Amino acid sequence: MSQLKHLDNSPPTPGKFKMDKSPYIHRLRWHGSLAKLTFWSFIFLGLILIFFFRSPSSNSLPSDPSRRSLRTYNWGGPAWEKRVRSSARVRSRHGMSVLVTGAAGFVGTHVSAALKRRGDGVLGLDCFNDYYDPSLKRARQALLERSGVFIVEGDINDSALLSKLFEVVAFTHVMHLAAQAGVRYAMENPGSYVHSNIAGLVNLLEVCKNANPQPAIVWASSSSVYGLNTKVPFSERDRTDQPASLYAATKKAGEEIAHTYNHIYGLSLTGLRFFTVYGPWGRPDMAYFFFTRDILKGQTIPIFEAANHGTVARDFTYIDDIVKGCLASLDTAEKSTGSGGKKKGPAQLRVFNLGNTSPVPVSDLVTILERLLKVKAKRNIMKLPRNGDVPFTHANISSAQRELGYKPTTDLQTGLKKFVRWYVSYYSGGKKASG
Ligand SMILES: NC(=O)c1ccc[n+]([C@@H]2O[C@H](COP(=O)([O-])OP(=O)(O)OC[C@H]3O[C@@H](n4cnc5c(N)ncnc54)[C@H](O)[C@@H]3O)[C@@H](O)[C@H]2O)c1
Repeated sequence: MSQLKHLDNSPPTPGKFKMDKSPYIHRLRWHGSLAKLTFWSFIFLGLILIFFFRSPSSNSLPSDPSRRSLRTYNWGGPAWEKRVRSSARVRSRHGMSVLVTGAAGFVGTHVSAALKRRGDGVLGLDCFNDYYDPSLKRARQALLERSGVFIVEGDINDSALLSKLFEVVAFTHVMHLAAQAGVRYAMENPGSYVHSNIAGLVNLLEVCKNANPQPAIVWASSSSVYGLNTKVPFSERDRTDQPASLYAATKKAGEEIAHTYNHIYGLSLTGLRFFTVYGPWGRPDMAYFFFTRDILKGQTIPIFEAANHGTVARDFTYIDDIVKGCLASLDTAEKSTGSGGKKKGPAQLRVFNLGNTSPVPVSDLVTILERLLKVKAKRNIMKLPRNGDVPFTHANISSAQRELGYKPTTDLQTGLKKFVRWYVSYYSGGKKASG
């Protein structure tokens, strides 16, 4: 958890405000004036009220998600619309026009760049929240901008903005990757999961359902929906009713919500269950990323073990393989069948595991990193805390193989080598690494 300390953006607490009583006690002694006491009492009361109402948060949560939705973003106007249109313009013969939410995120950046490379129209949307270092999101934005992808700054909960985007561009597809990721952050900010993974998803689906034509939607669920499943490898038909974290619960609820919109409104929906995605431009809250940082700094890294000294292992999946799975899902997505909010017939509904099918113990991940970084890690073996992490993930990818032609090709050793090369280049001075 210490690695997440930098994410703690707790506002100053009202309790830290100290009133200095001495001046008025002094005066009281000297003048004994009841009128002055009343006057100063009002001043203090006023100050307390002003402080209370201007304080960024009066509860114990570090950032109240409802306040995030109150953030105002600049959008609209002819120049803005021109940028939106130009970014979403299709440049290949059978290309599609895709709205990518969470485009400044790890997966969103890679998917947007890959779509743009092959001539599809791409418009990004992201709120650039501070769950992890926003400067990394800005660097990804700059990277995308260079390849002609514009990221609109806004929240998926903003229906006016989403409706405007659909008014300006008739998106054929939505790649929905905006979400509150990570399992441990739920201890600090549970509301952010509801805000982005539930309310935001519903808002996005509402706008898509009302769009004419309706787009086909591919969206990121998570392998965490398998929770404490013990039957491995995890298949799409396995039970998903034992979530181990609030994150998993909101992803599971998201799947139910998506099914509902498919059933009632004829939206074409494909849910992708990603398994521990890693690679260049990755997420600083993930173990492979902060292990690299801490090994290089000579800091001790916690390595968890399951009950009875069991191994904690992950089905690490390289970002390029995930991108191929996302693009294949978009390419094979059928059209939505509704229009103007009305269903006209049954629509496609799919869910796929996108994993690597070879779980690797986390201790092996550390050994590979040691070799690549040429630094010995200081390991601290600890019991897996009950804070949302599951001991094991392992994907059965036969559905994706059959229907998407999905076939992961990068093993952990090769993928980590590419990550480390990026990491060292990005963080050594100029932060000018390329993908
Ligand atoms: N990376 C993984 O290992 C992994 C594994 C399983 C599932 N997933 C899922 O894949 C998706 C992408 O994950 P990622 O690793 O790229 O995460 P990420 O945090 O890097 O990207 C998510 C992006 O969404 C944005 N965002 C969050 N809430 C938003 C809102 N309300 N409005 C607009 N933008 C918002 C964030 O600013 C961020 O840039 C997520 O749905 C995540 O849950 C990722």
